Formats: sequence, structure tokens, C-alpha cells
Amino acid sequence: WKTIDDMGLAGKTVLTRVDINVPMENGVVTDGTRIEKIVPTVEDLIARGAKVVLLAHYDRPKGKVVPEMSLSHVKAALEAALGRKVVFAEDCVGDAAKAAISAASQGDVVLLENTRFHAGEEKNDPKLAAEMAALGDVFVNDAFSAAHRAHASTAGIAALLPSAAGRLMEAELKALEAALGNPVRPVVAVVGGAKVSTKLELLGNLVGKVDHLVIGGGMANTFLVAQGVEVGKSLAERDMAATALEILGKAKASGCTIHLPVDVVVAREFKANAAHDTVPVAACPADAMILDAGPKTVAELTKVFEGCRTLIWNGPLGAFELEPFNAATNAAARAAASLTKAGNLVSVAGGGDTVAALNQAGAAKDFTFISTAGGAFLEWMEGKTLPGVAALG
Ligand code: 3PG
Repeated sequence: WKTIDDMGLAGKTVLTRVDINVPMENGVVTDGTRIEKIVPTVEDLIARGAKVVLLAHYDRPKGKVVPEMSLSHVKAALEAALGRKVVFAEDCVGDAAKAAISAASQGDVVLLENTRFHAGEEKNDPKLAAEMAALGDVFVNDAFSAAHRAHASTAGIAALLPSAAGRLMEAELKALEAALGNPVRPVVAVVGGAKVSTKLELLGNLVGKVDHLVIGGGMANTFLVAQGVEVGKSLAERDMAATALEILGKAKASGCTIHLPVDVVVAREFKANAAHDTVPVAACPADAMILDAGPKTVAELTKVFEGCRTLIWNGPLGAFELEPFNAATNAAARAAASLTKAGNLVSVAGGGDTVAALNQAGAAKDFTFISTAGGAFLEWMEGKTLPGVAALG
């Protein structure tokens, strides 16, 4: 794929696909990370003499105009992040879009309304893609986090205009390549979260690629059950036991060492500050549930991290949203952050829960790269081709 450096942009209208699908409460943006991350691309385009037209989706309006999902609510946060005035157009195609773009001058930023207000967006309708493409001269895709969707404004338009990756897209792709495509070995992957069933493809792909795979969170319980360990009332997908054994077998055959908890924190209630005990993994009482990994497990993981050169992380190790069951996630995250800071580890993490957990641990700032993507990060880790990236050629 090409980058902004490969395109002649002076005097051009650049349709720039961004992901500003940010969390909002009562019309106010509560986490502007995705907005801040597109600033370098917008500034770079302006510096090269382009007129910047932003194309983006917001939430899932399913092809209908839903006023609460209007990108007009994001405009103020965008203006604050850019330190520039943003012109908002009430549609992403048609007269409103054309008028706003032609009234804008070089150096201006135009924000078009939610692409998903049109049913053709998610269907990758060629007519909608052509209408969008007709608004500009060049297409820049900076929305890695929406690149797993083959939509009109991601894949469709790229086939119709000279296209390039924006700075954030470029950074995301380079970081993922360094973590899993062509990494410095040994590589450790940390995969946590509640369910094995949602991460089957991920685990299947990783065992063939990484040297160490740490399985944490509720999904570790399924692996423990598969190995005959009793986990009491813990969340576990007992019907996935055979699949878990298959993954363990594949790991062994590929020379990937799987790490499961050796000690666990158990409680009788799923709530913050519930009375809890730390026990060896085989000693979970029948009426209790595992809510976190224990300190011995964290010490073991830290050793694994110390022996590795690359870390890729998706999913928390315990019920991190409930104190104190965030302890293992926090401690392991801090260990990874300090190894990264010391220059011994390349660490890449992604996924909404993961980034929230790493932020909570104060570790995110020291990671080599934190992806802005949720679903796209996961699909990339699963080894899938992302249509929005593939369309860039
Ligand atoms: C995201 O928030 O992960 C992206 O903006 C994609 O959103 P979607 O899952 O609604 O396609």
C-alpha cells in the first residue's frame, strides 16, 4: 500500500476515512483518543496543500438517519483536537456535501455526516461508493479500526480513486507487523477475556505463530476444565472442552508453550470487594468462582515476559472491572510496561477492554503501541485479511 508520501496532494480534495466512533454520554465525548490519533494525518494533509474532507461512521444506525448518531455531536471535540474550525455537512453525499466542500478552501476541514445513515454503506453499494468518490480527487484511509468492514467508505471508494494509508493506518499496520507478522523472537501472546468460543480462531492462529501463549480470564477456566481441573462455579464453557484440548494439542505440535494460571483468586460473589481467597488452581471450592489469577501466576508470567522480545496482548487476565480482581492484569501489565521502557520488549496491545485495563494499570503509556482498534485488531490477530487494508493494494 501507498502512504501520503507517495501522493501528490497540493490543491487536491482528499477524502479521508477516519474512525471517530468515540464513546459519548449526553452528547459529550467521554474518550477522545480516536479523535486525537487522526490529528497528525489531517495536519500532514493540510501541510501538503490539500482540502481535507472527513468521511466516518458513528455507531450502528443501520441505514437510517438517527439524530443521536449524528457526527455533528463529535464536531466540537474534533475542532478542539485540531485547533481548527471544522465545517459540518449534513449528508456524506449529494448537495449538502458538494456545497460544503466547494465552499471550503485549501487548509479547511470538512466533516461529512455519518456514512451509515445510508443503507448502501454497509452493503458496499457501488453507487454510494461512486457518489462519495465523486466528491474528491484522492482517498486516504486512516481508519484501521474500521478496516475489518468491507463498506462503501472503506473498501468501495478505494477501488475508485488513487488511494493511500493515512499516518495512523500506517502506524497500526507497522506495529502489528512488528508484533506478529515479522517479530523479533521469542514472542509471547496474552489472550484473556470471558469466553473461548469468541476467540477460537484467534487461539488457533496464535498457537502456530507465537512461542508462548498466556491464556487468562474466564477462558482459562475452560482449558482447566478440559484438563480435569475442578473450577467450582467459575465461568467456563464445558461444551468447549474438546476444542480446548485440540488447541493444546496444536500448540504442542507447533512448539508453542501454553501458560494457564497456577494459582487463582476465588470469591463467592461476582462483585467488587467480595470476600476472596488465593488458592492453588486445583483448590477452587465447589461453591466459589475464579475471578483473577494469583501472584504466583503473575510471577511466572513476568518470567515469560523477561525471556521474550515481543508481546502482543488482547484481553484481561481476570474480572478487571471489579476491584481487587484487576490485580493480576495490573501487575502483568506493569511488568510488560517496565520491560518495554527498559528497551527489552516490543509490546503491542489492542481491543476495547484491553486498552481500558492497561490504562487503569497506568501501563498503556509505556507500551510500544496501543491500537485504536477493537474488532479489527482481533481479526488481524486471527490472521484474516482486512478488506479496508486489502483495498489499498
Ligand atoms: C469500532 O468501534 O470498533 C469501529 O468503529 C467499528 O465499529 P463497528 O463494529 O460498528 O463496525
